Amino acid sequence: MSKRILGLSLGLTLLLTSCGHSSGDRNGAELYTYIGCSSCHGATGTGGSLGPPLKGIGQYWDRESMTNFLVDPKETLASDPRLSKLDDAFKTDMRPFSELTRDQLERIADFVLSLER
Ligand code: HEC
Repeated sequence: MSKRILGLSLGLTLLLTSCGHSSGDRNGAELYTYIGCSSCHGATGTGGSLGPPLKGIGQYWDRESMTNFLVDPKETLASDPRLSKLDDAFKTDMRPFSELTRDQLERIADFVLSLER
């Protein structure tokens, strides 16, 4: 990448991050899209080739367990037969979303739990 383009994209990044709409004040639905859950699970949680549907999974989770799963998916997958099966069915994996705060993850979990079938 040339220095000019590098400088330009750096400036743009700074501009975007300084716009005041950091991930801190986004609600669960916005975070879901912003963080990229939607790229695998679909904009409205209907699922796709990269991730299972998230609608109506409230019977398996509460806010606490889902938040823990988002921090460390591997740990939960290993101990849950239903999830291990899901894991086998998809080529992709959930990555740990440990860069988010507990509060942000809880907001996302609440949003996912509100998605009804
Ligand atoms: C790279 C694609 C990808 C991204 C990005 C992703 N997921 Fe997933 N997700 C998966 C896959 C694949 C599974 C099935 C388990 C596995 O293989 O890890 C899954 C499983 C899940 C489950 C369990 C589903 C069930 O039936 O109980 C939840 C909840 C979930 N994801 C939420 C999220 C949230 C919230 C985000 C964003 C913070 C996210 N995922 C981002 C691919 C993804």
